[in-house]
Amino acid sequence: MARALIARNGGGTSAAMAKAKPYYAAGSLSAAYYDLITDADVRLRGDEDIYAALAPPGGAILELGCGSGRLTAGLAGRGFQVVGVDIAAAMLAQAEQRLAALPPDIAGRVALRRGDMTALDLKRPFDLVICPFFTLAHVPTGAAWANTFATATRHLSAGGLAAFHLPRLEIMRLPGPKDPDRPVMDVPLPDGRRLLLFVRERSFREGINRLEQVLEYAIADAAGRVLQRSPERLTYYVGDPVAPAAKAGLTLDRPPIDLGGVGDIWVFRKI
Ligand SMILES: C[S@@+](CC[C@H](N)C(=O)[O-])C[C@H]1O[C@@H](n2cnc3c(N)ncnc32)[C@H](O)[C@@H]1O
Repeated sequence: MARALIARNGGGTSAAMAKAKPYYAAGSLSAAYYDLITDADVRLRGDEDIYAALAPPGGAILELGCGSGRLTAGLAGRGFQVVGVDIAAAMLAQAEQRLAALPPDIAGRVALRRGDMTALDLKRPFDLVICPFFTLAHVPTGAAWANTFATATRHLSAGGLAAFHLPRLEIMRLPGPKDPDRPVMDVPLPDGRRLLLFVRERSFREGINRLEQVLEYAIADAAGRVLQRSPERLTYYVGDPVAPAAKAGLTLDRPPIDLGGVGDIWVFRKI
């Protein structure tokens, strides 16, 4: 049955939002189909090249929020030593699968760890810390951002770089699609079925700059019949990273690098 788009202005939690599974939770389709959806998103193209250019050849990279290992594996393939940390077991399971399919010399350059970037201490320095594809936006601005910048500082030697990819505020403020029953993505699956993605709710709360969304994943058969639906809740927090990064000892190294017009990679240097 068609469901109406609820465009709210930062009010309380809707029933749909309360019922939705958190993004990347065990059994979520956001985790199961992360690679498929991300590969189809042209706005992310080129991020690996940007991160690779920030580290010395063969250098050590710490990836905060490594997810399914998309960049972890790619950077290891380019000769870097990469430690990937993620809080979600379902995402790390995907990363493990990806590693298992890699040539042993590349997989041997990767270590995966379950952990929280706001409190991580691996007690070793890296040449580069990266926090790609809106990972920092998954935690509230304020203490969680301050602690994540402190994590980056803790894992760098003086002069080392840290790169944070953040969504743009003006994009986060945009309303959801006019027709919530029209998928924003429709991706063929190898077995002939299709993966559809709908934006069911989207609301932005000014002041705390929080975007809340209910994104519904649906699997449809070749005839278009929906076989499975999974509404999942994705929350982003946006803000200017320069002041909180400076408090943690990170200074902006260059103008933010535009990626796909929806976000920027902010590169900081440890003072
Ligand atoms: C959009 S994905 C990015 C994955 C990967 N870096 C990429 O670019 O494809 C965001 C990831 O951040 C992870 N994440 C969210 N909060 C986290 C936290 N506090 N500590 C570690 N990982 C976190 C999520 O579990 C998810 O895998």
